[in-house]
Amino acid sequence: MLSEVLFLLCCLSCVFSKDPDIEEEEIAAYNFMAILNRKTEEMLNKYQQTEWDYETNLTDENLQRKLEVGAEMAKFQKEAWQQVISFDWRRFSDYYLRRQFFLYSVLGDGALPPEKYKKLKKIIGDMENIFSTAKICAYNETQKCDLALNPDITNIMSTSRNEEELKHVWLAWRDAVGPKCRALFEEYVQLSNEAARLNNFTDTSEYWLNGYEDPHFKDKIQNIYEQLKPLYLQLHAYVRFKLRQKYGDVVSETGPIPAHLLGDIMAQNWREIADFTLPFPNVGDNDLTQELIDQNYTAIQIARTAEDFFKSLNLTEMPDSFWEKSIFTKSEDKPMVCMASSWDFSDGKDFRVKLCMHITLTDFTVTHHEMGHIEYYLHYKNLPVKFRGGANDGFHEAVGDLISLSVLSTKHLRQIGLINTDIDHRVDMNNLYKVGLHKIMFLPFSYLMELWRWDIFSGKTKPEDYNCKWWELREKYQGVESPVDRSEEDFDPASKYHIISSTPYLRYFIALILQFQFHRTLCEKAGQYDPISHYSHLHNCDIYQSREAGNALKRMLAMGASRPWPDALEALTGQREMDATAILEYFQPLHEWLKNENKKNGAYVGWESSKRVCTRTKKELET
Ligand SMILES: *[C@@H]1O[C@H](CO)[C@@H](O)[C@H](O)[C@H]1NC(C)=O
Ligand SMILES: *[C@@H]1O[C@H](CO)[C@@H](O)[C@H](O)[C@H]1NC(C)=O
Ligand SMILES: *[C@@H]1O[C@H](CO)[C@@H](O)[C@H](O)[C@H]1NC(C)=O
Ligand SMILES: *[C@@H]1O[C@H](CO)[C@@H](O)[C@H](O)[C@H]1NC(C)=O
Ligand SMILES: *[C@@H]1O[C@H](CO)[C@@H](O)[C@H](O)[C@H]1NC(C)=O
Repeated sequence: MLSEVLFLLCCLSCVFSKDPDIEEEEIAAYNFMAILNRKTEEMLNKYQQTEWDYETNLTDENLQRKLEVGAEMAKFQKEAWQQVISFDWRRFSDYYLRRQFFLYSVLGDGALPPEKYKKLKKIIGDMENIFSTAKICAYNETQKCDLALNPDITNIMSTSRNEEELKHVWLAWRDAVGPKCRALFEEYVQLSNEAARLNNFTDTSEYWLNGYEDPHFKDKIQNIYEQLKPLYLQLHAYVRFKLRQKYGDVVSETGPIPAHLLGDIMAQNWREIADFTLPFPNVGDNDLTQELIDQNYTAIQIARTAEDFFKSLNLTEMPDSFWEKSIFTKSEDKPMVCMASSWDFSDGKDFRVKLCMHITLTDFTVTHHEMGHIEYYLHYKNLPVKFRGGANDGFHEAVGDLISLSVLSTKHLRQIGLINTDIDHRVDMNNLYKVGLHKIMFLPFSYLMELWRWDIFSGKTKPEDYNCKWWELREKYQGVESPVDRSEEDFDPASKYHIISSTPYLRYFIALILQFQFHRTLCEKAGQYDPISHYSHLHNCDIYQSREAGNALKRMLAMGASRPWPDALEALTGQREMDATAILEYFQPLHEWLKNENKKNGAYVGWESSKRVCTRTKKELET
């Protein structure tokens, strides 16, 4: 096992440590780490079993068991952490030993005293509860008041083209969640910062950024955002023009776009408005969901199709126990948590996905995404426990999506028989446009989610400005505005799950940039991309069956988190920085088309200030 190899390496370098003061401590630390790693694996395995049992069978008994073992684990981790930070580990000579101590030295919320830790968990739980039980009334049937976010509100936002109805649902959802979460959220910020300080960070924003191991990381993200802005502005201008054709003066010619018209309750993914905004509306739009159904795909077959792709790259096949223990479709006999997830049970053997698959293109993509996580787990399973993770959290999210870029290319879909019609440049452009609505429009949103929270945790944004600041950022980065005036009695960020559940979000931005960077490298290795001539249709590259591409990816996956992320990036791409040029090249044909089209239409590019106001109180709005 590789962990034993590292173990030996550590030991040797301990013995040869140059500093006699620290030499003895390093040898002791070495033994301490070996025991800690074994116990951590056992504890994690035990906890994950109870978590799985609960999430796949929501009974009180299973919940109690999960909470009990969760408390046991928290106690174990805190005691271990206290021992870890008592070592003078920064002076150790062995890199991998030092790095394990570094990773163990950050405990997170568990550093709080037990009472406060419980309180923080309770506050987050309360907000999640408000969020998941919130119901709103239907637009024109005021008696019908049982609409939940999933699936009702999501469906209305994506399919309704009635502006009044969309506005009603958009507002009602925010009214149902925001005000109730506001005071809780303020308390959460205090406690979360307190926990961060016990980990020696100035506040939670510094704690969240710590995993990127780069003091200039924020600036680098800003830089990437700036590189992508011209493409974003062209897509934004084109969509606003199309929306004006559909909805008239509700959408201004030069202002931000009202946020309720973009097909999604958060306006974070604009894919659902593709049907009436396509570049070539009269050209056969391949309905891949229908194709999957017509071809009698089952959930297992979709998973096998995904596995086949990974195997064609010489990546690892799923172990037998994966097929026996995973859940692919919702079972009818017991309620379960249906959010798609992938599981590493920390014993080097047991890996599973939990999916509630429907036969749709979305779930086809989700399956590839989750299996990407499993591939990562399988490749680093023999590393010491703290190295079993993505090079950073964005890497982990990027693997499955990277595969999807090839899988969803028209070339591959034709190869596996999901597209049977001829492809011409118009079909191609429609496809690229849909990917753009999904991926490019998401970038500023994922960025501003953290811009908002960073300033809140640091105290730069005061509680009395939380909501107005949110709208300031939404306008500045996304070019969207609220359909009505807002005040600080509203609390619109709470309408997003990751905000109230305290889930960092930057990983999705990073994953989006990285997947294209990986894609470009792998396409080059697969002989489908020429780095000299550039712009050689990255969007039509399909790495299926390329061992060269797969073996390169394998090497990066096998590094896990054993080195800082630039080392992992370099191992695959030769670059040490995240870089937006790959995503820009991928979308180059769309970018060119949009520039021409916007010029032809006389569409305004960019946006003037919103006419909407945001005040302290609702009363001020009335006067
Ligand atoms: C669900 O969990 C309960 C324990 O709370 C157990 O008795 C039952 O057998 C489980 N059901 C299934 C279908 O696994
Ligand atoms: C409500 O609106 C929907 C579509 O907008 C329509 O199908 C339905 O009949 C309406 N219901 C009532 C009670 O007006
Ligand atoms: C935080 O810093 C103090 C003082 O330097 C130190 O004693 C303590 O161990 C540190 N805590 C952590 C979690 O690193
Ligand atoms: C799918 O199943 C139906 C009904 O069993 C059958 O008639 C049809 O030929 C099948 N289609 C394919 C592509 O296998
Ligand atoms: C597949 O990967 C293994 C390592 O996991 C390697 O030894 C083997 O050479 C690779 N096969 C090909 C055909 O590249």
